Amino acid sequence: MKKSFIIFIFPTNEIYLSLIMKTDKNRLLILVLLSVAFLGYSFDLYVSPPKEKDGELINNSLAAEGKLLWQKKNCTSCHQIYGLGGHLGPDLTNIASKRSREHIEVFLKHGTNVMPDFNLSKQEIDAFQAFFIALDQSGQSDPRTFKLHLDGTVSQ
Ligand code: HEC
Repeated sequence: MKKSFIIFIFPTNEIYLSLIMKTDKNRLLILVLLSVAFLGYSFDLYVSPPKEKDGELINNSLAAEGKLLWQKKNCTSCHQIYGLGGHLGPDLTNIASKRSREHIEVFLKHGTNVMPDFNLSKQEIDAFQAFFIALDQSGQSDPRTFKLHLDGTVSQ
């Protein structure tokens, strides 16, 4: 490997690196170490169980009904979930923990002068409430609340 290339990638470690990369044996050792680290980390990621509660929405039938209504009524044209959607109204991912049930119900029942009144039945309103609770439990949409770990991964 050319010295200028190493300087380009590791400018502060230039001298140190040019010393340890001097022999083919050292280069081979570094290659082996990096390969072992890569394979070990890949294996760990592959076998460790997923941390997210996958499938929670699907197991909760009322929440699943709310999700379907969310799609049918196209609420996403004005609202976001995890930051995706229209921007006329607020992100509703964590609305269940931010606002009271009553507060949400008022919007669903009557709309506002910007948000239309969808004439939702009691069952439909309950379905939306269940959907918002399940959605809230699935994670945080605001990245400012995330914790950054030393290995570069984030958790909520
Ligand atoms: C035409 C755009 C539009 C559509 C479509 C829409 N909303 Fe809204 N919604 C808004 C706006 C804008 C607000 C913020 C209140 C306001 O300014 O009137 C809001 C507020 C809300 C709130 C209260 C949020 C808070 O933080 O107080 C809830 C809950 C809500 N909407 C649910 C829904 C649901 C469920 C649907 C689909 C059935 C929907 N919205 C469809 C525009 C919309």
